[in-house]
This record gives sequence, structure tokens and C-alpha cells, in this order.
Amino acid sequence: MTMNSPLWGAELDHIRLDSTSPAQLAAFYRNAFVMAEHPLDDGTTLLHGENRRLIIGRDGRTEATGGQPFSAFRFPDGARLEAYKAHLTARGVNLMPCPTPLFASGAFAVADPDGRQMVFGVAHDRDEFEDTEPAGQVGHPPGRLQHVVVATADLAAMMAFYENTLGFVPTDHVLCDNEGGGQSLTAVFYRSTPEHHSFAMFLSDTARPDHHAYEVSCWNDIRDWADHMAGLEIKLWWGPGRHGPGNNLFFMVEDPDGYKVEISAELESMADTDPIRQWPHTERSLNLWGPGWMRS
Ligand SMILES: [Fe+2]
Repeated sequence: MTMNSPLWGAELDHIRLDSTSPAQLAAFYRNAFVMAEHPLDDGTTLLHGENRRLIIGRDGRTEATGGQPFSAFRFPDGARLEAYKAHLTARGVNLMPCPTPLFASGAFAVADPDGRQMVFGVAHDRDEFEDTEPAGQVGHPPGRLQHVVVATADLAAMMAFYENTLGFVPTDHVLCDNEGGGQSLTAVFYRSTPEHHSFAMFLSDTARPDHHAYEVSCWNDIRDWADHMAGLEIKLWWGPGRHGPGNNLFFMVEDPDGYKVEISAELESMADTDPIRQWPHTERSLNLWGPGWMRS
């Protein structure tokens, strides 16, 4: 039962992206994703809108993190966070200081096998920026930060950590046929709520960020976001299409640093008892409508 996962109920709250040109990157997200921009005390910049926020920092890019040093997941309350912390402590996991100012005290981080941090916490009682929503957001389609995806060269180690240690629940596997027979995994989708995935990983030749995504309410919202991008002369990088795993409608754009960003709708909801499904490693699995983005 997925409800038995100590992680169950945790949702993606924010991620951090690093850049050698943080002001340029912040301006992109401010305009393209209709967010307000605020300097934070630690020298980073907060971009936030309704149900979406991210932190942009000056380049701390390492080979391991590729410029996306952490993803932060939010528990619904402090009791759940403390129970999760106790679960990890009992398993001997090294808990590290929380690297984000956006969570209340009690938050902490853990490092995954690739060196990227996963942060767990609860929101502050009151968001000090809640009264400063960007003016352009009125009447704009919604966009809830919903999932983050990484690429890795060591899928086995990453799967063991995310499943067995952190408690992410596998939803779908993507498999390729090996030349000598048998099959190998090329992607795994994980959930921490009934939504099909809040986190996923793709096999690649190196560890790097893959993309993050904002969930909207319907196909017309996708149209409106695409029209909004068109008004800014931001070309769609991939899509529109429909993913096999998740069955979600999507398009992606690329930010000035090459990070991919997705607008998604109709992401599947899963039942607790749903078994892991399998997809072939084909373009069609990644995009039922047309060309796929093949990471390996
Ligand atoms: Fe996605």
C-alpha cells in the first residue's frame, strides 16, 4: 500500500537553479512563468507565483548537480515531517542542514547518490511574500509546480536510494531491449501523492537536471500558456504532445541556460493498489502524438 510510505503526502514545493547569469535567468522566469522576483538574504533570488516558486542562485554548478543543486518537498504538517526524519535517522541516513530559506525550522536535506540534495520541510506559517503576487498573474492561467526530473548515469543506485531509503513509490518503468537479450530500465517515474509522478529519473551518460513542470487545469490552459510564450517570442522546444507514462498533455520550453520547463495538464491519478506499469523505450512512449525526446 502506497499510504504506508513515510513520504506519502509530500509535494514538490520548490527547486533551485544556478546560473552564471542569475539576473538573466530570473528575468526569464519572471516573464515567461509570470512570477514576482524578490532578493533573499543569502544572495539568491526567489521567483514566485500562485502555487509555484523557485530559487535562482549564482552558479554553483558541479558535475554532479549540473546547476540544479536541490529539490524541496513539503510535508502537510510538522508531525509528518518529524516522523519522516525519524524514519531516515533509523536507517542511518546522514541528515544535512536545510539549504533553503523557504521552509520553517525543522527542515533538513539528504544527498542522493549523484550528490544532488533532496530537502524536506514544511512551509512557514505565513508566506512573507504572499501579498506581493505579480500583477500580471491576474487572469493568467494557473501553473502549480508539480514535478521535477533528473538524469543519471547510475540508475540502479539512484533507484535504490529513492525507493528504499526515501520511500518514493514507483509508478511506471520504461524498458529498452538489450542487444544480447533481456531488457534494461531507461526511466522510472515515482509518486509521493496520488498524482502519477512528483519525481522521475532518466538514464543518461551523465548526472544532470532534466526538467521541471507546472501542472495546469485543462487543455485550454496549455493553449493560453503557449500563446503567452508566443507573445514573448519563446518557441516551444518540444510538443504539444501527450506522454505515455502519466498520460499528460504537455509542451516544453527551454530557458536561457538550457534547462527544460514543462507545462502539463491531465496528469493521471493513481490508486494505491496500482502495480508498476511497463513502457517500451520508444518515441511513442515519450510522446504518443509524435517525436520523443530520447535521453539514451
Ligand atoms: Fe515532465
